[in-house]
Amino acid sequence: MKLNIAIDGPSAAGKSTIAKRLAALLGYVHLDTGAMYRCIAYKALCRHLSLTDEAALCALIDQTEIELTPQGEVFLDGEKMDQRIRTDEVSMATSRISALKGVREKLVARQKKMAENKGVIMDGRDIGTVVLPQAELKIFLTASAEARACRRYRENEEKGMASDYEQLVKDIAQRDAQDMQRTVSPLRQAADAVLVDSSNLSIDEVVDLIRAMAEKKQKEAKS
Ligand code: DC
Repeated sequence: MKLNIAIDGPSAAGKSTIAKRLAALLGYVHLDTGAMYRCIAYKALCRHLSLTDEAALCALIDQTEIELTPQGEVFLDGEKMDQRIRTDEVSMATSRISALKGVREKLVARQKKMAENKGVIMDGRDIGTVVLPQAELKIFLTASAEARACRRYRENEEKGMASDYEQLVKDIAQRDAQDMQRTVSPLRQAADAVLVDSSNLSIDEVVDLIRAMAEKKQKEAKS
């Protein structure tokens, strides 16, 4: 029997990478909810909409089609998205629009629908608390700001991009504060979520740990 799995946690904790690998191993579908907020922010920027105009942003969502494929592709109004939704400008705009109640309500409603048939691993900030409060397995994946900055630093290095480690630590701490202090659906661990601190774990170790938990839950659900 398939379950729904919620993975929440701060930015750069490795949620997407881990969710993607787990989905492949378990035969589940990975849904990256951050990509949905990013698509709306990107479209709003393209249309020069005010990022605080909640009514206009809600109307925009109603006219927008977002598709997340099992292969991990993101289609915005039929067009395949790539790094365009991952730029610093879009990240910043996403952080702003995702704090708006109306925007969240509309995207959360879509996310709930996407998980109706189970077998979904959804990652975000409010999955275990708001989107899928009935998820059979909830993980709160975190790591110290230093460990996350270190990973980003290495990723940038691999891409040939220079970065300042101290600045990365500061940026991550600032984003954590924004995500945790916003009034609507702030990032927090659901009471029944399992805390996984990946500061001293490899990706494979985290995947193995969560996979074992999911398989145990699947067996329990069968019996
Ligand atoms: O996971 P990510 O970095 O792609 O998320 C981008 C932004 O969207 C980030 O500012 C947090 C926000 N977000 C959210 O508020 N709720 C979600 N379920 C997913 C992302």
